[in-house]
Amino acid sequence: MSVCLLALLVLISPTADALDNGLALKPTMGWLHWERFMCNIDCDKDPNNCISERLYMQMADVMVKEGWKEAGYEYVCIDDCWPSRQRDAQGRLQADPKRFPGGIKKLANYVHSKGLKLGIYADVGKNTCAGYPGSLGYYETDAQTFADWDVDLLKFDGCYMDWTLVGEGYVNMSKALNKTGSSILYSCEWPLYEWEFKQPNYTAIREACNHWRNFADVYDSWSSVKSILEWTASHQDIIVPAAGPGGWNDPDMLVIGNFGLSHAQQESQMALWAIMAAPLLMSNDLRDICPRSKELLQNRHIIAISQDPLGKQGYRTAKVDNFEVWERTLSKNQRAIAVLNQQEIGGPRGFVIRAAPGWKICDPQCEVTQILPQYKELGVQTLHTKMILSVNPSGTTLLTVTPISSNITGLNKLYWRDTVKRKHTIL
Ligand code: GLA
Repeated sequence: MSVCLLALLVLISPTADALDNGLALKPTMGWLHWERFMCNIDCDKDPNNCISERLYMQMADVMVKEGWKEAGYEYVCIDDCWPSRQRDAQGRLQADPKRFPGGIKKLANYVHSKGLKLGIYADVGKNTCAGYPGSLGYYETDAQTFADWDVDLLKFDGCYMDWTLVGEGYVNMSKALNKTGSSILYSCEWPLYEWEFKQPNYTAIREACNHWRNFADVYDSWSSVKSILEWTASHQDIIVPAAGPGGWNDPDMLVIGNFGLSHAQQESQMALWAIMAAPLLMSNDLRDICPRSKELLQNRHIIAISQDPLGKQGYRTAKVDNFEVWERTLSKNQRAIAVLNQQEIGGPRGFVIRAAPGWKICDPQCEVTQILPQYKELGVQTLHTKMILSVNPSGTTLLTVTPISSNITGLNKLYWRDTVKRKHTIL
């Protein structure tokens, strides 16, 4: 589908009804253990990094102390491998007693005492992906258990389930969560488990889930991040119109601050996750993260793009000369433009910004701010300005563009006159 047609679709298609639980009005921000800590359950050998209550308590402590909470990161999320291999005598899930001696409710209390929220993980099928007990046949019991524990988010995986029953399972869990009367954000993997067989029904998904994974798990590598971007761009006509306040496409965790991405690639992941209105769930070790990655993850200008109240997902608008241009419409007629240099050889390359489709809003004038790789106010520009952006190999140059309409110029004049008048009065 052409970019123009997609733009039209996004404009005219009223976003389908979102899950009506009042949550995820902006993309969720927080931390999730999977990519970095996976199913490390050997607390004897690796007490600092194993899946245990200690890990989440330490992460919550750091989130408060090191400015993460203040930057907007709110959810501390448990992924797979937390439960005991068996349910209790009443058929309820229970945390592994050795690794979670205090139990999940106590952990939730701890996380809440820090002003943060706790997420947990379960699976729509017979088992979780790592082989722990799944929720099939126990949706109401498990939803109630999570509510009793005061959990704030459920990531619901889709392993060990007949794919024809996946959709029904996700809807039933959504209903079960709703029935508890608690506010539990519902993170699904429904479309990921259907794409192999059929095109998922995004209207139904949006009605049941607060966000949904579409594609493969993120790894700590540039090839993984690239494959997620390519999948997203090549399915954007289907998935972008489904996103909006209350329900988001989830391209998986941010792996910034780990081992596999160069700094330029980390900037690309951060910029494009913001453009995609993606949940910002970091999977890294916040206890030991390099200052540059921390600064990038806490960059308030990028977070403002991610959390823009209009809640429109951006998409790829051009692909030219090994550059990709991604754009997101923001509130107040602003626009974010990300230019990604896909050439993985050589040094920074110049991209003539006039070529970006959204540059039209610079008629008659606009104000441009570069956010990545360095913050720079680039001043007032016009449709005819020839601005050359420098874009690092596998890096992204991120801009915000604010139109200056003749009306606003008029307003500015009024403001100026008013200020002058007030100055005179004071004198
Ligand atoms: C699946 C999910 C991952 C993670 C693992 C846990 O692969 O997509 O995000 O939750 O299961 O086993």
